Amino acid sequence: MAQQRTLSLIKPDGIEKGLIGKIVARFEEQGLKPVAMKLVRLGLPQAEAFYGVHRERPFFKSLCQYMTSGPILAMVLEGENAVAKNREIMGATDPAKAAAGTIRKDFATNVEQNSVHGSDSVENAAIEIAFFFNAFEIQAYEWKKAR
Ligand code: CMP
Repeated sequence: MAQQRTLSLIKPDGIEKGLIGKIVARFEEQGLKPVAMKLVRLGLPQAEAFYGVHRERPFFKSLCQYMTSGPILAMVLEGENAVAKNREIMGATDPAKAAAGTIRKDFATNVEQNSVHGSDSVENAAIEIAFFFNAFEIQAYEWKKAR
C-alpha cells in the first residue's frame, strides 16, 4: 500500500472540548504520523474558500460560521493509505451513523460540529494541504530521507 499524506482538521468543537491530545493519539496509535501541525483561526473568506465545493448546500453558511467560531488545529498526517485510513479513524460525517470506536462516534456533537475533517481523496489532500501549509512547514522529517 502506498505512503500518502492527508489533511486533518480538529474543528472548533474538538478544540473547545479539549480533545487535541486524545484525537492526535488516535492517529498516532493507528499508524498516522503528524508531519506538520498548526493552530489557526479561519476568517470567513478562508472558510468559504476551503469549503467552496459545498457552496450550494443548505448548510454552507452555518458551516462557515461554525468553522470561524474558534481555533482549529490543522495537521498533515502521513502513513500507509493515509487518506482512507484517516476517514476510517474519523467515522461517518454524522456521528449518529459513525461506527463504534471512531472519533466522531465518541466525541462529535452533531453532523455539523463533528470534531474533525479529513481529505476525501489523494487529489483533494494535495489541494487542502497546500491551503494550510507551505513547503517549509512540512519539511521537518525531510532530513531523514536525505541521509
Ligand atoms: P466535513 O467532513 O468537514 O465536510 C463538510 C462538512 O459540512 C462536514 O464535515 C460537516 O461539518 C458539515 N456538514 C455535512 N453535512 C451536513 C449537514 N447535513 N448539516 C450540517 N452540516 C453538515
